[in-house]
Amino acid sequence: MRALRSTRQDAGEPGGSGVESNRDFDFTSADFERIRALIHRRAGISLSDHKRDMAYSRLARRLRTLGLDSFREYLDQLEARNDAAEWEAFTNALTTNLTAFFREAHHFPILADFVKRRGSQPVSVWCSAASTGEEPYSIAMTLVEALGDRAAREARVLATDLDTQVLAKADAGVYSFDQVKHLSPERLKRFFFKGTGSHSGLVKVRPELRAMIKFEQLNLTDADYGLRTTFDAIFCRNVMIYFDKPTQAQVLTRFEPLMKPDGLLFAGHSENFTYVTQAFRLRGQTVYELTRGAASAAPRRANDALGVPA
Ligand SMILES: C[S@@+](CC[C@H](N)C(=O)[O-])C[C@H]1O[C@@H](n2cnc3c(N)ncnc32)[C@H](O)[C@@H]1O
Repeated sequence: MRALRSTRQDAGEPGGSGVESNRDFDFTSADFERIRALIHRRAGISLSDHKRDMAYSRLARRLRTLGLDSFREYLDQLEARNDAAEWEAFTNALTTNLTAFFREAHHFPILADFVKRRGSQPVSVWCSAASTGEEPYSIAMTLVEALGDRAAREARVLATDLDTQVLAKADAGVYSFDQVKHLSPERLKRFFFKGTGSHSGLVKVRPELRAMIKFEQLNLTDADYGLRTTFDAIFCRNVMIYFDKPTQAQVLTRFEPLMKPDGLLFAGHSENFTYVTQAFRLRGQTVYELTRGAASAAPRRANDALGVPA
């Protein structure tokens, strides 16, 4: 059995909290630096010093599950064996998935107006950091409210995330009352079933809404997303904050040919792309559009991706 390590003092080590903590496993600065480098390489995530305790507690669970005695052993194994499942568990453990229905609510009326103005064209929206699903379901509800019956036939949402665990939750579409407490009674009735018996206290997304969304795993730091289409709108909210500037710039470069020329890019409240790229310009309220030069280049590149001669 693993012995409980004695209380140790983190003060003085980079990222140390300065408070004493009881830990099951030794966790050195070298371990943390290795974790930082690995998660940056795999997911673009830059873990700041103050995420040290978070990294410890989330990965300590993996050590316990695998019956390992030290972080060093865990990280050695992770790097030596090309075990896709463990890499997945490692990245899932280090993502932050906080989200909510209609989070940053001012974006949804903007989306509704935008799709209404597009007349009879089909609408496609990509939610690129979908987490547990609240954001893509909010987008789909907005499309139904804006387009009525047409939405089921002509509006589609692609919802992607790196974390497979959150995607499984999103796919199930089951939420607690607490998670939907801010939705209006009209929305609750229109878009959710209420659980009864052993499911009381829960709601489930109605199949019509669920059918508008396709959930898939996608790593925003991959060189090629494998998407061969263009979107009217891309939601990329509250994920770029975890990336450094060069990674943000790469992601925005990959978004450019995936946007319709007059499409919209929605960012999180604390994310500012103006300093990262010239391809997008701020339209207001953390909503971006392609700049003129990018707009004229976009259709040509999209056609390339579709295999259509320019
Ligand atoms: C804080 S949540 C934001 C969720 C939602 N967009 C919102 O604003 O409410 C960040 C999400 O980004 C995902 N993520 C982190 N790195 C990623 C990457 N490299 N590729 C795709 N998704 C990533 C995480 O798994 C997490 O679900």
